Parts: sequence; structure tokens; C-alpha cells
Amino acid sequence: MSHQGTAFSSEKEVLANVLKRNIEQVGRFPPDSTAEEVAKVLASDINGKIVIITGASPSGLGAEAARVIFQHNPKLLILASRSIKTIDETIVAIGGYKSSEKVRAVVLDLADLDSVRKAAAEILEITPTVDVLINNAGIMMVPEYKTTKQGFELQFQVNHLGHFLFTNLILSALLKSPFGPRVVNVSSAGHRASEVHLDDVNFKNGETYDSFIAYGQSKSANILFTVSLDQKLQKKGLRSFAVDPGSVGWWNADGSLGENIPWTTVGQGTSSYIVGAFDRTIDDQSGKCLAKANIDATAESYATDPEIAEKLWVLSEKFVGQEFRYD
Ligand SMILES: NC(=O)c1ccc[n+]([C@@H]2O[C@H](COP(=O)([O-])OP(=O)(O)OC[C@H]3O[C@@H](n4cnc5c(N)ncnc54)[C@H](OP(=O)(O)O)[C@@H]3O)[C@@H](O)[C@H]2O)c1
Repeated sequence: MSHQGTAFSSEKEVLANVLKRNIEQVGRFPPDSTAEEVAKVLASDINGKIVIITGASPSGLGAEAARVIFQHNPKLLILASRSIKTIDETIVAIGGYKSSEKVRAVVLDLADLDSVRKAAAEILEITPTVDVLINNAGIMMVPEYKTTKQGFELQFQVNHLGHFLFTNLILSALLKSPFGPRVVNVSSAGHRASEVHLDDVNFKNGETYDSFIAYGQSKSANILFTVSLDQKLQKKGLRSFAVDPGSVGWWNADGSLGENIPWTTVGQGTSSYIVGAFDRTIDDQSGKCLAKANIDATAESYATDPEIAEKLWVLSEKFVGQEFRYD
């Protein structure tokens, strides 16, 4: 048997790697678990919690996470997204208006830091305590170079910088959680496309812009932010996880999907959201990534290095014009 073209020089190495992957995959939940299945196991951990999800338009991953969490009686579910109309559609779809005191809509446009500040202030008025924040909103591979009102590359701000500011502005409420607060940052295997260009997040003002590299940069930033939250706030009880949902495909009526992509379903793609947000048995793994409902150690080192994470934190503070120190 030849292994030419692989990264391994011998059959023994290949087998050792397969074994390692199998061991790594042995976690609490089977890798093909759906959010619904995981939530059934964690039902008592969801019950009574105050949860915020960003980006919850119908048919997206945020809406599926909202639907599953809402089935298990959270104390309050806040959906924060760009348009009240789409949040309302999701609230209707998950049956939220039957118990409207348990679900709230907040307008949040991550592409505008003024909107982020307004949304955070509104949330602090709605509730003094937040138990779980799921930073799910995101845009992917914007074809043309675009900048935000504040002048940052669009994917970098929507996927990372807006969430950085939003999270820090509501952190006082998270730290009041009697259950131990959780922050889940939704990243992607797409982080493998690029590290964060700390010296030039704007691709030479668009001259060297590549939509996939820009997406990769923003998704690496999501993991680095997770690492920083853990480094700075674990001592205050906060736990933080990054999530890779996999490549989510919506199945055709005939059951077919694209050929060369290991597609996953919306339910499977959101299983890690539920684990990251509610599974207390992984408290000691804070700062790590989750994929397929279990801890996943395959993220690139440029996305997990605490020194790079600290540099991104300081840069993000500079970009939003506010320092967040938790000593
Ligand atoms: N789907 C996948 O295969 C996949 C794979 C890896 C990672 N992910 C990650 O999973 C997350 C959810 O993706 P998805 O597939 O569910 O995408 P989606 O269906 O496009 O949903 C994205 C959500 O983000 C919101 N959003 C976009 N721009 C925003 C802004 N400026 N301010 C606030 N909210 C904004 C959208 O709101 P509008 O409806 O108003 O646009 C929508 O609710 C993303 O972070 C994505 O990077 C997805």
C-alpha cells in the first residue's frame, strides 16, 4: 500500500494518525449528533437560562439554535440581528409568540459600531444578567472589497470586531450569571484560509483583497477572541468556546448534495453550539474549539496562540476606541 502524496511517510504513521483521530473523536456525544439530540441530554442545563444569539434569520444556523434552545424552557431568549422583520419571522417559526415574555428581539448591525453600542445598551436595559452569548452572525466570502461605516473590511468587522465590542459591552451582565457565563464564538474550517493580518486587516485598502482570505482572517479572529476571553476571564468564572459548524448543506428533495464536500445538516452543524453553551462537563476545556459536538484540537496554531490572541485584543481595542481590561 502506497501513501505517496500524503503527509505520512509510513503505513505505521497513517495508522497512528487514524487511531489518534478516533481517540480525539471519542467524546460525550456521537459526532453526527444533532442540536436537538444534544439538547435533550442537556435539557436541565438550558432550563432557566438567559441566552442571547446574534444573527437569527430564518433558516440560518442561529435560528436552528434558537429553535432548539427555546424547546427547553430558557428563562429568556434574546435574538439580536439586523432586521426586526427577520427576527420576528424566526420568533414565529420557533413558536415564541405563544410566550412572548420569554423571547425578545434586538436590532444589531455589526457593520456599524454605533448600532453595536445601542444594542448592548438595550440588552442591559432588558436584563441585568446574561448566562449565555452565542456570537453566530456572520457573512461569508463577500465578493467585492467593502468597508464599514468605521472603515474596516466588512467581514473583519461583522464577523469579529462587532462581536468583540458587543461581547465586552455586555460582559458585566455575563459576569453576573449565577450559573457561570458562557460565550460561544462561531468560527469555521474556513479559518484555515488565513491568519489575521495584524499589520494590515484591510488588505492594503482592498488592493490585495481576496474574499476567501478575508473570510479566513475573520474566522481565525473568532478563535483568537475565544482564547483571549478564556485567558482573561476564566478566573472570573467565564467559559468560552469556538465552534466549527462544518459545511452545512440543505438537502435536496431527492436527498442529493454537492459531491466533494463532507456536508452536514443544519441540525448537526448546530450541535456544537449547544455543547459550547451548556455542557458543564467541558468546563475545564474552556478556550478550545468544538466540532461535531466534541472538543476538536485541529485548529491552526496561528488561530490558537495566546500571544497572537493578545495582540488581536489590543488591536481590536484600538479599532473600537475603548479598552477592556479585566485584571
Ligand atoms: N453555513 C455553513 O456551512 C457554515 C460553515 C462554517 C461556518 N459558518 C458560520 O456560521 C454562522 C452562521 O452562518 P449561516 O450559514 O447560518 O449564515 P446565514 O444563514 O447567512 O445567517 C447569518 C446571520 O448573520 C446575520 N448578519 C449578517 N450580517 C449582519 C450584520 N451586519 N449585523 C448583524 N447580523 C448580521 C444575518 O442576518 P440578515 O438575515 O439580516 O443578513 C443572519 O441572521 C456564521 O458565523 C458563519 O460564518 C457557517
